Amino acid sequence: MSELNKKGNALLQLLADGQFHSGEKIGELLGVSRTSVSNYIKGLQEIGLDIYKVPGRGYQSANPIELLDEKLIQRLSNHKNVKVEQILDSTNQWLLDKIPNLKNGQTCIAEYQLAGKGRRGRKWISPFASHLYFSYYWRFESGIEKLSGLSLLVGIATVNALEKTGIQGVSLKWPNDLYYQGKKLAGILIELNAQANEACHTVIGIGINVRMPPEQAKLIDQPWIDLSSLSEEKIDRNILSANIISELQTLLPEYEKNGLKAHLPRWFELDCFLNHPVNVLLAESNKAGICRGIDEHGALLLECDGNIETFIGGEVSLRLA
Ligand code: ATP
Ligand code: BTN
Repeated sequence: MSELNKKGNALLQLLADGQFHSGEKIGELLGVSRTSVSNYIKGLQEIGLDIYKVPGRGYQSANPIELLDEKLIQRLSNHKNVKVEQILDSTNQWLLDKIPNLKNGQTCIAEYQLAGKGRRGRKWISPFASHLYFSYYWRFESGIEKLSGLSLLVGIATVNALEKTGIQGVSLKWPNDLYYQGKKLAGILIELNAQANEACHTVIGIGINVRMPPEQAKLIDQPWIDLSSLSEEKIDRNILSANIISELQTLLPEYEKNGLKAHLPRWFELDCFLNHPVNVLLAESNKAGICRGIDEHGALLLECDGNIETFIGGEVSLRLA
């Protein structure tokens, strides 16, 4: 399904309240047969919506659905450059395809990604209206020099935004993950378009698990968590998006000027592996040591036999020993 059609959309709006709606009533409202209703329901289930049928009562969405609202996010963040799309391949790709015609701060958020990207060609599971799929464009005038610490700064900005939204206790795993009690909550993917001696275009992608539908959870091959299981509060993706935009708008210009140095204390406060035995997974081998945080370029500091070795992000992964 490349786009929700009008009837699919009307059905979505109807089920958004989390109440039961009979097939007959839905058919009447959409002006279609009951068989067509069941096909529209299948279409919504295929894109990740958790919809049940109970004989005698009708269809119900397992949870009330709160859709993204472009105008609301613009108003809450006081930021006009926000585009909300229903279905895209990837919010990162949507922005990458528009370089170099973008203004700093252009934001793209989608309800669903057909081809959500993780690091190193991995797939990011992106069910409809369940999580946050957020991308933000920034042009670094000084070229690629500052970029080694960027995913760490974005991690800090995202934790700040979560805290403002009422979510406490989230930590960071070098170089690009947000963790909660040892489980992955969110990931950051930064993609670049850079030429030597020129400004560097960056697309900052952030995926945050908000409410994982059980069927989609089966596709994830490591411990994960979502916001709805770590907070009693209802999570409003519009407020969370606006808070992330505000954090990035504040932190990025300052980072571009001064780098990561001023943020080191915050990283050390949030680093979930600090002073723990870890393994650094390299392309050909593993390196064991104690995690000693990061330096001002965002490189990982690993203590091995009393010496400190440094590693930069890119193709390296970190695991608890
Ligand atoms: P690294 O330390 O290299 O970053 P990683 O396993 O976290 O390791 P990533 O590419 O950063 O790898 O993230 C992708 C992984 O994140 C997936 O393989 C999956 O295990 C996990 N994950 C958690 N939530 C999701 C989600 N919504 N969609 C896809 N993967 C998810
Ligand atoms: C990771 O941990 O591997 C990074 C995951 C990044 C996922 C986000 S969702 C929004 C943006 N668009 C994408 O295709 N990927 C990022």
